[in-house]
Amino acid sequence: MKDIFGKALLEYYNNNYTEDIVTWTNISDKDSLPLPYLFRAYSEMPKLEQKALQLAKGKVLDVGCGSGSHSLYLQDKGFEVKAIDISKGAIDVAKKRGIIHAEHKALLDETETFDTILLLMNGTGIFQEFTLVSNYLKHLKSLLNPNGQILIDSSDIKYMYQDDDGGFWLDTSGRYYGELDYYLSYKGDHEQPIKWLYLDFETLKTACLSVGLNCKKVMDGEHYDYLAKINF
Ligand SMILES: C[S@@+](CC[C@H](N)C(=O)[O-])C[C@H]1O[C@@H](n2cnc3c(N)ncnc32)[C@H](O)[C@@H]1O
Repeated sequence: MKDIFGKALLEYYNNNYTEDIVTWTNISDKDSLPLPYLFRAYSEMPKLEQKALQLAKGKVLDVGCGSGSHSLYLQDKGFEVKAIDISKGAIDVAKKRGIIHAEHKALLDETETFDTILLLMNGTGIFQEFTLVSNYLKHLKSLLNPNGQILIDSSDIKYMYQDDDGGFWLDTSGRYYGELDYYLSYKGDHEQPIKWLYLDFETLKTACLSVGLNCKKVMDGEHYDYLAKINF
């Protein structure tokens, strides 16, 4: 991993903002990911994220914290927050922004327990591929205190396979339709491709039940996205 994402966050933080990150997938064209969005304040967050922050309780783990926007909000409200990310640059920025407990660490290496675990901005993306979902869910379960909760958002991206005439071109013999190859570039430098998973709510719920977790939809977003609450 070249940590191009972290480099972009650091440059933005250091007032060297000249261009945005560019992303694309195996089923979609190039799109820009505006760097200011990764530093959003509460008032600029989608309703789903605001709702997740309102539901937070106790000791919080922010998984894939990026620049730490969600952690910062909760920390300012007095919550004990730990923020983790596999991007070294992201963690450097989160620390510079004032996150007290920010660690360069992958979710599967986390061992502490928490009352609230946040995975936001397509939180299921971190599971990478469909076959890894139950591993990740089992691990998340092991990090929950009694009465703890996981707040996670994702989208049903079936709409991305829709033709102009309304028909779908899903290949049902292939992999799960939300499993994408995800590409990222910044200032002409390319990151190694990653797998990024979008899970529709019913598939997430079924996966949760299979590992002994309950999953409830908290709210729908504006474009096929949703926030879910997972607990024992
Ligand atoms: C779409 S960004 C979201 C960042 C932040 N949550 C936000 O909403 O602005 C996803 C983040 O997850 C991090 N990430 C990906 N896989 C991870 C893993 N296995 N463990 C921890 N962080 C991970 C990425 O480095 C990236 O910062």
